[in-house]
Amino acid sequence: MDQKQLEQEVNKRRTFAIISHPDAGKTTITEQMLYFGGVIRSAGTVKAKKSGQFATSDWMEIEKKRGISVTSSVMQFHYRDKDINILDTPGHEDFSEDTYRTLMAVDAAVMVIDSAKGIEPQTKKLFKVVKQRGIPIFTFMNKLDRDGRDPLDLIAELEELLNIEGCAMNWPIGMGKELKGLYDIANNRLELYRKDGDDRFLPLNKDGQLEEHNPIEEEGSYEQALGEVDLIKEAGNQFDLDKIKAGNQTPVFFGSALTNFGVETFLNTFLDLAPAPSAHKQKDSEEIVKPDDEEFSGFVFKIQANMNPNHRDRIAFVRICSGEFVRGMDVTLQRTGKTMRLNNATEFMSDQRETVKTAVAGDIVGLYDTGNFQIGDTIFTGKKSVQFEDLPQFTPEMFMEVQAKNVMKQKSFHKGMQQLVQEGAVQLYKKYTTNDYILGAVGQLQFEVFQFRMKNEYNCDVVMKPIGSRIARWVDPEQLDPSMSSTRNMLVKDLDDKPLFLFENRFAENWFTNKYPDVKLTSKL
Ligand code: G4P
Repeated sequence: MDQKQLEQEVNKRRTFAIISHPDAGKTTITEQMLYFGGVIRSAGTVKAKKSGQFATSDWMEIEKKRGISVTSSVMQFHYRDKDINILDTPGHEDFSEDTYRTLMAVDAAVMVIDSAKGIEPQTKKLFKVVKQRGIPIFTFMNKLDRDGRDPLDLIAELEELLNIEGCAMNWPIGMGKELKGLYDIANNRLELYRKDGDDRFLPLNKDGQLEEHNPIEEEGSYEQALGEVDLIKEAGNQFDLDKIKAGNQTPVFFGSALTNFGVETFLNTFLDLAPAPSAHKQKDSEEIVKPDDEEFSGFVFKIQANMNPNHRDRIAFVRICSGEFVRGMDVTLQRTGKTMRLNNATEFMSDQRETVKTAVAGDIVGLYDTGNFQIGDTIFTGKKSVQFEDLPQFTPEMFMEVQAKNVMKQKSFHKGMQQLVQEGAVQLYKKYTTNDYILGAVGQLQFEVFQFRMKNEYNCDVVMKPIGSRIARWVDPEQLDPSMSSTRNMLVKDLDDKPLFLFENRFAENWFTNKYPDVKLTSKL
């Protein structure tokens, strides 16, 4: 493809992830989007109960019910003039570091909040990671068909708990059983609830008022909404595209994913405002890789091992940062300097109608991997070496002591451990004095996967003893005295031999800082 085509293709891409707390409605809204994209014929009926010990994606359920090909984790579809990539960020028991790393591969995030519950813990955690990247975040306040919290409160909570300005794009008229519609501030129209087609939109005049007969009988809720809209127009955060682009303001949309209310308006506005693939900075250099650069480059943000013991293969997920991916192309793996041919690749399509598809910057490709790749690896074509910045390490919150069940299996234990740690499946620590192994993770599933893979891939049973959830704090080795350690603040070292304390709880950490006020503790994230 020539330069112009490449630019056009890249500009069509919109790559994002949906972040939310379990049950807020991520699966339901994803389904609605697929419906608009023409991938599925109806939406709103999938029971999205997450099943299976190793559910690799929240979308498996959709895949099963719909018989469409969702090769886990990435879904691509076409809507309007855009090619959309949605990356999955599992929220349930399958929460893991992968979830966080996936957020390194997107250009925008959609935050789905249950309007009855407000901001919940998992959303907060994921938000923190997205915020650090400074990418745009769009908020969908879901489940308006149920009685929820005061919309003004929900917006205020964004600022209070997440420290981000919320800018209302539409406003509910009623709620729950009394839901009548939305006052669509961004498009200056009303959107009526339980009406299909374009009939559901009523234009407003330049004063933001209805000229024709008002079909909303419950004058009360309409008047109240008008009053609140006036209030937020006067005193609320003003729409500011620069702030949105930098992730300092989030456009807020209300709606109900289950009844497909407000989702289309949301998706359309989102696609208008969300950025095309962004440029990527290189490690230790000011050099920028632009998405429409001719040479191909990308980085591995996730490695997913096949849980089927008959197939040892793994898939390395690559976010393309520049150029075009062509099957069979030769690339250089920056870490080793070796050239490899990418024959065995999979693109993530849910739209069966299109068979030939080009993958360009913004897209994700899955490379079948026999052990060549590590998380964070850069691959590129051309003579000029490219290396993207390291992916951040996430501070684990759960810890386990781990040993081989059978002492005779030490060799496979160490081999498996080394490889799985390299792959980024878990984080490894050692007790400071005894060198016993401790594993750290951000979610329980990581331990289960580790145990399973040690047995299936390395033929080694492991015994794990939970230490529970801990607060990890690194400490300056100069200030360290091993006698500071106790069971409530276990002293360990990380892979780079840097010492850290694992505090039992906030209380233990406070106690420590009071006792040793000069010792500086840092968290990585
Ligand atoms: P998740 O992926 O974020 O975990 O959430 P998911 O879409 O699976 O939705 C969780 C539950 O919430 C589902 O109910 C779903 O139908 C419901 N839900 C999603 N959006 C809305 C909405 O706009 N309004 C209402 N009223 N419900 C919504 P479920 O799996 O059937 O569970 P249950 O409700 O029967 O317990």
